[in-house]
Amino acid sequence: MTTEQLFGKLWDEYTNRTPSAKKVKELFEAQGNTIFNDHVAFRTFEDSRVNIDVLAETFINNGYEYKGDYHFSKKKLYAKHFEHKTDKDAPLVFISQLLTSEFSVELQSIIKNTLDTVDYASVPNNELIFKGRLWHTPSYKTYMRLLEESEYAAWLYVNGFCSNHFTVDINKLETFSSITDVNSFLKAHGFEMNASGGEIKGTAEEFLEQSSILADKIEVTFEEGIYEITSCYYEFAYRHVMQNGELFKGFIANSADKIFESTDMVLQ
Ligand code: NI
Repeated sequence: MTTEQLFGKLWDEYTNRTPSAKKVKELFEAQGNTIFNDHVAFRTFEDSRVNIDVLAETFINNGYEYKGDYHFSKKKLYAKHFEHKTDKDAPLVFISQLLTSEFSVELQSIIKNTLDTVDYASVPNNELIFKGRLWHTPSYKTYMRLLEESEYAAWLYVNGFCSNHFTVDINKLETFSSITDVNSFLKAHGFEMNASGGEIKGTAEEFLEQSSILADKIEVTFEEGIYEITSCYYEFAYRHVMQNGELFKGFIANSADKIFESTDMVLQ
């Protein structure tokens, strides 16, 4: 699979669960823009069977290399980012994991028992990111229990392994020159922004400004019935030139911390 085919497959799967992303992309294109992705993000659990390094295999096999890591102490998350070695138009890849061992014994046992039900022999590591929820029909009671401790854990328990968000590279848009213009355009078309920590996360001084629309909601079948749950969201990133004349290529932990909240049920 080429890198383009890989992200094409991920995009198709992602827009099935995130129709807003498809609508936004079409709106940008109707203005005369070609869309490039700044980065694509994935979520997982700290468990040797499915951790960041396991999910990253898909990208390492496709010419990516590790570039940096990030700590989110309050949300108890850890993340790594990967960059394609040669293809400058390939999106960055951001993979985070829940530091399960830092949560209650009950949460740890829910996650372990859930992951134990998966037949890993039938799913090669490099296919994991396409598989969504590999375990049984979720329990709404368990979902609510996880939500008490971690929105991220609850989201992952229901959504499984998938692209959590794609991110429009604002620098490469032809008809927009700032993140403020992009946000105004989105709001004018009725999209709701994640306002946690302000609509724009990060500053020109940090070389990265980011915003996102709130996650779509989809109907999910639970053991107890059907409930509407947050799926995924679309993000927008504008990168600034550093003193050395190159665009900043990393991430800002404080900003990513707030972007995570785009799937928060209480923001909806
Ligand atoms: Ni992101």
